[in-house]
Amino acid sequence: MKFLVFGSLNIDLIFSVDHIVCPGETINSSALERSAGGKGANQAAALAKAGMEVYMAGKIGHDGDFLLELLQSYGVRTNHIMHWEGATGQALIQVDKTGQNSIVLYGGGNAALKDSEVPAIISSFSAGDIVLLQNEIPVSAAVMRTARERGMKVCLNPSPFDERIADLPLELADILFVNEIEAAGLTGLPASQDFETVLEKLAGRFPKTEIILTAGKEGAFYALGTLRAKGDIVDLPVADTTGAGDTFSGFFLAARERGCDVTESLRLACKASSIAVSRKGAMASMPFAGEVF
Ligand code: RIB
Repeated sequence: MKFLVFGSLNIDLIFSVDHIVCPGETINSSALERSAGGKGANQAAALAKAGMEVYMAGKIGHDGDFLLELLQSYGVRTNHIMHWEGATGQALIQVDKTGQNSIVLYGGGNAALKDSEVPAIISSFSAGDIVLLQNEIPVSAAVMRTARERGMKVCLNPSPFDERIADLPLELADILFVNEIEAAGLTGLPASQDFETVLEKLAGRFPKTEIILTAGKEGAFYALGTLRAKGDIVDLPVADTTGAGDTFSGFFLAARERGCDVTESLRLACKASSIAVSRKGAMASMPFAGEVF
């Protein structure tokens, strides 16, 4: 069984700030780091660090070649990452003194992916393989349909939640990973609604889909039909929440692949993301398998 992450690769510019800048305000930062990111690349790194056989498909400019080298160092197969003449995707990230972040994206190579590039990549995979997607590339709908036709299992993290979600065939997802903002977008409920109510609404809308609702300090909630489960975080000091959700998705899927049941997989994924938020950065903060399993 192989994993394919079809998604974004970004150069993250991470500004350490006192607070997230307000409209019209100019503030200073205490540090600036340039590192590898993108929800797709992060999730591929998480799966590889968790010991899985994982392939990444996406598009970068030559300014992003260090991303390839880093992913390869984790064991990610990068032969489906294409180059184009423009820039690699960028993320302008502010991390405040409590570890919370805000992110502005520039599409770059991610936005240059074309539906016509999808079939050749999917043809290298077989029935039973798993594709994991996010919402930072314009070809996700084509990937979901083509992968499903091939008999692959489809896992979707509809993040960031924007108008493009309406074009995705959500009913084709076997697993949906959502946080409270994405859950609010999918249900129409306010983001302040309690997690159980949101989970019930999602389970009602997607009765055949495994729903995993990540809830920060409240851990993670699971629903499939009438089945429910919950995982708790490990209480560690928060340094940087960037990539926490990506770590969770990768380690949840890896735990399931290693034969863990849902409850144990939630526990292990919560543990992995708790470790990740206790360190700075996205990919770099993710634990390796030996720290979690
Ligand atoms: O999930 C975190 C990621 O979101 C960052 O690495 C950034 O690149 C954005 O894609």
